[in-house]
Amino acid sequence: MKRELIVRKIEHGTVIDHIPAGNALNVLRILGIRGNEGFRVAVVMNVESRKLGRKDIVKIEGRELASEEVSIIALIAPTATINIIRNYEVVYKERVKLPDIIEGIVRCSNPNCITNQPKEGARPKFRVVSRDPLLLQCTYCERYTTKEDILKQFRR
Ligand code: CTP
Ligand code: ZN
Repeated sequence: MKRELIVRKIEHGTVIDHIPAGNALNVLRILGIRGNEGFRVAVVMNVESRKLGRKDIVKIEGRELASEEVSIIALIAPTATINIIRNYEVVYKERVKLPDIIEGIVRCSNPNCITNQPKEGARPKFRVVSRDPLLLQCTYCERYTTKEDILKQFRR
């Protein structure tokens, strides 16, 4: 029996697939997509997946994600695949990859860290201690930063 898609295929844009179930809204949050930008976004949550049991999917029509944005997604959805769609075809597929060292993007959870003193000009830098659950360690003050800390930094 042919299984039906909950949300139809898109003509052009980006499909973020294999997001750990329950994290679609977190993905939108770190991408800074609030819904008032004008492009169509489909969010699918808790659907069956052979690989993950359950997964979420985000489809963004009319926008191709840049590779810096893709690396941010790895912080909260390490299993995600990014599919770039043109003319209804997947023209590019990439599994997100969390590097061993994160630079820039995330702020240290320690307010007194040198990287939080604008005058010092020190760029935040973390070692990835654990991927699941996500745990980053600041290379300056050694304080840990968690997924929850990161999500707070990307507030609406
Ligand atoms: N997709 C879409 N619109 C298209 C093409 C694909 O929304 N025009 C979606 C599919 O529904 C799927 C994802 O993009 O969620 C990846 O498509 P595809 O590579 O065709 O699916 P699979 O082979 O199942 O992907 P994978 O091997 O990554 O699981
Ligand atoms: Zn620090």
